[in-house]
Amino acid sequence: MTVVVGTQWGDEGKGKLTDLLASEMQVVVRYQGGHNAGHTIVVDGETFALQLVPSGVLYPHTVPVIGNGVVVDPVVLLEEVDMLSAKGIDCSRLLISGNAHLIMPYHQELDRVTERYLGKNSLGTTKRGIGPAYADKAARVGLRVQDILDAKIFREKLDIVLKEKNAVLAKVYNRLPLDADEIASKYLDEYAPRVAPMIADTVSFVHDALEVGQNVLLEGAQATFLDLDQGTYPFVTSSNPCAGGASTGTGIGPKLIDKVIGIAKAYVTRVGSGPFPTELHDELGDELVDRGHEYGVNTKRRRRTGWFDAVLLRQAARVNSLTEVALTKLDILDTFDTLKVCVAYEADGKRYDYVPYHQSVFHAVKPVYEELPGWKCDLSGITNVSELPGKARDYVQFLEAQIGVPIDLVGVGPGRNQFLRMQGGA
Ligand code: GDP
Ligand code: IMO
Ligand code: MG
Repeated sequence: MTVVVGTQWGDEGKGKLTDLLASEMQVVVRYQGGHNAGHTIVVDGETFALQLVPSGVLYPHTVPVIGNGVVVDPVVLLEEVDMLSAKGIDCSRLLISGNAHLIMPYHQELDRVTERYLGKNSLGTTKRGIGPAYADKAARVGLRVQDILDAKIFREKLDIVLKEKNAVLAKVYNRLPLDADEIASKYLDEYAPRVAPMIADTVSFVHDALEVGQNVLLEGAQATFLDLDQGTYPFVTSSNPCAGGASTGTGIGPKLIDKVIGIAKAYVTRVGSGPFPTELHDELGDELVDRGHEYGVNTKRRRRTGWFDAVLLRQAARVNSLTEVALTKLDILDTFDTLKVCVAYEADGKRYDYVPYHQSVFHAVKPVYEELPGWKCDLSGITNVSELPGKARDYVQFLEAQIGVPIDLVGVGPGRNQFLRMQGGA
C-alpha cells in the first residue's frame, strides 16, 4: 500500500501524483482534511480541481473512497459529484465512511468569526469550517456521516450541540442564532437521499480489497508542516496529513503501508500565516508566483513563495518515513540564472539540520544557502529523463543528496504525462 503525502505547506501536486499512480490502483482513499484542499489534475488539456473526491476518480477502474479521517461538507460533496458528472466522469463508485464527520453550517460561521476576532493574529484559514469541525470531533459532540441515516438521532445530536453553538455565536460574537429546523431539513431531506447510497463500512472495504491483492493508494491533503502535531503550530490545519494520519484516517495499521511518497515542489509555497524561512519578498518571489501560477485553487489567494528548503524535507523524510520523493514544477525554475537551496538554518550562532522544535527559534532562523547555476531552457517539452539538461539534473541530484531519500519522479508540467521517471533516484 502506498501513501502520498505533502512535504511542505501544501499544493505540491498531490492531485497530479495521485492521478498518475491511480492508473495502477484499484482503490484510492482520501484520509484527512476536507474541502480546504484543492487538488488539480490536468488530462488532455482539461483541468479538474477536486476538493473532497479522491483524485483516483478519473479512472473507471478505481473505487474512490472518502475515509473516516475526512470532514465532509455534503453541499460541497454533492456539487463536486455534479461537476464531475457534467464532465462525463462516473461517480457512482464513490464510497464515504459512515464515521467521517460532517461539517455543519455553524462550523463555517465559527471559522469566519473566530478568524475575524483574531484580527492580525488570524491563522489565515480557508474559512471552510475545518478547525471547528475537528474540534467538535475531539470534543465528542460532532455529527457523523452515518447520523444522516437516522433522522431521530441526527435531530437529537443537533439540538444538543446547536444550543451551545448558538449561545457562543450570539453572546460572544454577536451573530444571529442558526435555526435547527432549517439545518435538519437541509441535511435530512435534501442531502441525505443523495449521500446515503455512498455510505459504507470503508474499513472493511479497504481490508477486503487488500486481502484479494488489490492495490490501494492513500491520498493525503495539506502537508507535513500543516500537520496539527508535526507542523508549524498554531499555523497549521486541524488534522494529521503526515503518513501516520493515513493509518488513523482509514483504519489500516502502519505495517500494511510499504511505500510513502513525499511530494515536494522544486521551490516552496505557503498560503496563510506562519513562519517561512526561505520566503522571498522580492521580484524573484513574484517571478515564482507568475510562472508557477501560485494562486489557491479554491480561495484564489496569492501564495507566498521561496527557495527550496532541504531542512523541511529532511524533517519530512523522518516524520513520514518517506521511501521516495516526487519533485514537481522543476519547469517553473527554467528562467532563473542561479538557484538557492537552503541546506541548514542558523539561529543564535547554532546550526540546525532539522527543524528546531521551539517555535521562537523557528521564527528566528536564518537560512544557510548554497547556490547552483540555472539551466536557462524550457523543460516543459521533455518526455524522457535522458533529455534533462546537465544543470537541471545537478539541481535534482543536489536536492536528493540533501534530503537523503531518492527522488524518483520529476514534474516538468501540469499534465498527467509530464512526470519524468528517474530510475532508482536522480
Ligand atoms: P495539491 O493541492 O498538492 O494537489 O496541488 P495543487 O493542485 O493545489 O497545486 C499544484 C499546481 O501545480 C496545480 O496547478 C498543478 O496543475 C500544477 N503542477 C503540478 N505539477 C506540476 C509540474 O511539474 N509543473 C507545472 N508547471 N505545474 C505543475
Ligand atoms: P492542499 O490539499 C495549502 C492552510 C490554510 C491555512 C491553514 C489552516 O490543496 O495542499 P484550514 O482551513 O485548514 O483551517 O487552514 O492551512 N491550508 C492549505 N494550504 N494547501 C492546502 O490544501 C491547504 N489546506 C489548508 O491556508 O494557512
Ligand atoms: Mg492544493
